[in-house]
Amino acid sequence: MNRRLSNCHNISDLRKLAKRRLPRALFDYIDGTAEDGVTARANRSAFERHRLIPRTLVDVSNIDSSTTLFGQAVNSPIILAPTAFTRAFHHHGEVAVANAAKAAGFIYTLSTVSNTSIEDIAGIGGAHWFQIYVYKDRKLLEDFIERCKLANYQALCLTVDASTPGNREKDRRNGLIIPPRPSLATILDAVQHPGWCWHMLTSPAIITANITGDSRLEAADAKALLQYMHEQLDNHVSWDDVAWMMEQWQGPFLIKGILSVEDASRAADLGVHGIVISNHGGRQLDHTPATLDVLPEIVEAVGDRCEIIIDSGFRRGTDIIKALALGAKACMIGRPYLYGLAAGGEDGVIKALQILDEEFKHNMRLLGRTAVSQLDRSCLQALN
Ligand SMILES: Cc1cc2nc3c(=O)[nH]c(=O)nc-3n(C[C@H](O)[C@H](O)[C@H](O)COP(=O)(O)O)c2cc1C
Repeated sequence: MNRRLSNCHNISDLRKLAKRRLPRALFDYIDGTAEDGVTARANRSAFERHRLIPRTLVDVSNIDSSTTLFGQAVNSPIILAPTAFTRAFHHHGEVAVANAAKAAGFIYTLSTVSNTSIEDIAGIGGAHWFQIYVYKDRKLLEDFIERCKLANYQALCLTVDASTPGNREKDRRNGLIIPPRPSLATILDAVQHPGWCWHMLTSPAIITANITGDSRLEAADAKALLQYMHEQLDNHVSWDDVAWMMEQWQGPFLIKGILSVEDASRAADLGVHGIVISNHGGRQLDHTPATLDVLPEIVEAVGDRCEIIIDSGFRRGTDIIKALALGAKACMIGRPYLYGLAAGGEDGVIKALQILDEEFKHNMRLLGRTAVSQLDRSCLQALN
């Protein structure tokens, strides 16, 4: 691991390094939020309204961070969230992320809009989930589901909060829209990052890898494929589509992007195995609540009927401790590992995962709790 990465002691350090390494438009794309960033700020401040109450004189010589998800043992309650187009941030993209996740023993959720295919990521080994949207062309959906089955993906995760992209004004200013429209200013800025430019110019073109093998689209270029996938997003999605997808998949099925008790209950009634309480890291509808704030009421409503995962704004081991203490089974992280990827490729992702894993265990020790099963409301004091 290089010296700059070794000098990163928290996710915020990795973010600063990523900012130096990337052209501004790409850093803004990772870091950015919808409109005024109200939700993104709320995600972070929610953690400050819960304080931790340590127990003392406990033998904390051994901390066990393992847990179970859908009946399977997993090393950690930290899961890598799906993120699109990661090869834009580092030329090794999802391969670097999957290698790092495998080394750490964490689950990696591959995005539909990845630049590496379902099969190539499966070939790396490790535990993988696949994130999917509902597409107008049900044949495309069936193909994805079939490919995930053949490639032994362990769960399917349907994202429901992105029927249209959030209003990220920085991306619009930077021309990072579909299809992309780079300006002279963004091109000049990119040129000032020669390392990034060199790798982009000497690496294979960035593509939406999961649909290039489709004979119906073989002739299309990268821009046309992206446009096609965007147009395929189905705005008429209903709960019937969820039932249909679960029927096709026949395995652990999650819905990502739930923020209301009503939707969580409906999902549980339908027999969904898990939900991800998410506001997409504050990137979609601004002014939605912090995910930590809706977690307790959702836990109360769906209880043990399905497993509850949460994301959006997790940057510290203590954030993870608080969510688990409030009843989440696991936490997803998005930007933290993307900062690592942009800062230093695979080593950078390894660094991001190490930081969060070590902070989580270190703070469990200080809290006097030695296993995930000991994280409950007794660990917390809620402030108003
Ligand atoms: C650059 C970027 C791309 C993303 N792409 C996707 C995606 O393709 N599919 C999806 O379901 N969520 C996507 N997300 C949302 C993440 O899965 C996750 O919900 C979010 O990043 C969590 O917030 P955090 O970044 O604060 O950890 C993306 C997030 C970022 C930052």
